[in-house]
Amino acid sequence: MPSTAPWWRSAVIYQVYIRSFADGDGDGVGDIAGIRSRLPYLKSLGVDALWINPWYKSPMADHGYDVADFREIDPLFGSLAEAEQLIEEAHRHGIRVIPDIVPNHTSDQHAWFRAALAAGPGSPERERYVFRPGRGPGGGEPPNDWVSCFGGPAWTRLPDGQWYLHLFAPQQPDLNWEHPEVRAEFESILRFWFGRGVDGFRIDVAHGLVKDPELPDLPPREEPAGVLGPLSRRDEADAANRIRRHLDHPHWDRDEVHDIYRAWRKVADEFPGDRSFVAEAWADTPERLAAYVRRDGLHTAFNFDFLMASWDAKDLRSVIDDSLAMLGAVGAPATWVLSNHDVMRHPSRYGRKTVKRWVANEPYRPEGPPDLELGRRRARAAALLMLALPGGAYIYQGEELGLPEVEDLPEAVLQDPIWERSGHTDRGRDGCRVPLPWSGRSEPYGFSPAGAAAAPWLPQPANWGEFSVQAQTGDETSMLELYRAALRLRRELPALGDGTLTWLEAPDGVLAFRRAPGFACVVNLSAEAHPLPGHTSLLLSSGPVEGGVLAPDHAAWLAL
Ligand code: NOJ
Repeated sequence: MPSTAPWWRSAVIYQVYIRSFADGDGDGVGDIAGIRSRLPYLKSLGVDALWINPWYKSPMADHGYDVADFREIDPLFGSLAEAEQLIEEAHRHGIRVIPDIVPNHTSDQHAWFRAALAAGPGSPERERYVFRPGRGPGGGEPPNDWVSCFGGPAWTRLPDGQWYLHLFAPQQPDLNWEHPEVRAEFESILRFWFGRGVDGFRIDVAHGLVKDPELPDLPPREEPAGVLGPLSRRDEADAANRIRRHLDHPHWDRDEVHDIYRAWRKVADEFPGDRSFVAEAWADTPERLAAYVRRDGLHTAFNFDFLMASWDAKDLRSVIDDSLAMLGAVGAPATWVLSNHDVMRHPSRYGRKTVKRWVANEPYRPEGPPDLELGRRRARAAALLMLALPGGAYIYQGEELGLPEVEDLPEAVLQDPIWERSGHTDRGRDGCRVPLPWSGRSEPYGFSPAGAAAAPWLPQPANWGEFSVQAQTGDETSMLELYRAALRLRRELPALGDGTLTWLEAPDGVLAFRRAPGFACVVNLSAEAHPLPGHTSLLLSSGPVEGGVLAPDHAAWLAL
């Protein structure tokens, strides 16, 4: 019987980082024309929906996360008419479309911010943002000690003496969500796009909108050592996270933020079909994350604990159990994600001898060069784990090609604002944003049309051809064919997608679970080969299975 559950409870959503997906007009930057031309590819891959990173009019100080006009498409990416065509064509391919919405901040070129600058201190125009006088003699010190996520203080001073808040780059001033016009404007923007057929939104920095109105300094940091005693591997990372965890943080994950999303839910419910939201909410605990996805709030939220977990069976199992328990308690499906445009690609994370649990808001600085063969083996197993877990899953473009992080981009080409803001101590996120290889043996590897006027906006490595869609198509051992096969089975097997799992008994280092009807997934994260449990057939495996034994760093899907 076909499922009647809404699509977003089990969807596989493909993240399109638009600058780097496909370039239709040959200017070296991906665009809507490029996405439209690759819809048949996405259809054959078997994904249910696309999440498209910001495509709005933007000066691109943070590659589109600095929005100057939420109702216009940036000319670099196309036009509003092309966006409408894309939505319609994707729907014809059976693929839903979810744009990004960026409500925490605008660009400093947004009409509201320009008006605020022009109107001066004390004006109503400034009330839509967070302007304050400084502290200290002559107001020369920032109003408080908040820091920008990209490095440096979260405040910038204007020539008229006032300071404005930006939790990200200075070109991204934070909006004041206490202001009724801000709330009304975003509800209107949601209606604008829902009316054009989008199926939902990914909400950027969903946990950051509401600030403590007193704008107090950050609370003193907890010291992990001594307070928490000897630390296990997972505890160690948790402790690091706890250092920046505050029960009542002045700008992250404040309870009042949920009022905004209750109102947004009502807007989504005004439209026919199952429109849905996914929150980018960095919450300290699964309980705090679950608060975003209550029945009258958002539908889903990214589960970053899974992405941040190390390649360790105990670590992964506790993340899976906690996520399913907490989200299940509020009736929400879990989501699973291994990579995105903000973090090191997972074959490069998993290719390190010791994979550390990653800490939110910290640059991931692994030790030594990656063993990419190991990383790819684990990435194949991780894909089968992720796609077998109950709930929805996200695939970051190029993950299905097994792309590694490009860790040796020359400094001269780095564009992420983090590189400058960190005083050149953090290379930022460009290494996971290198344009995709589609075909051929040399740049632009089919990313741009033949004879394109400009080179890709980031240089592609010399070996990018071996990862191309063309090189992998039809090669049974390729990452692409593994993803295609897994997604095909996921559509066919009633056991997969939304639902529950039951753990099977397994030795340390092995994750094994059953899903009804008649399905099991086994992942071997140990150093020893592991005999597969009894099964009627091997549905899919991340590598050869000989003699009924699963080698280390491999996974298998079984019919029971
Ligand atoms: C989170 C986005 O994923 C990231 O790319 C962006 O820089 C920040 N939010 C600021 O909008």
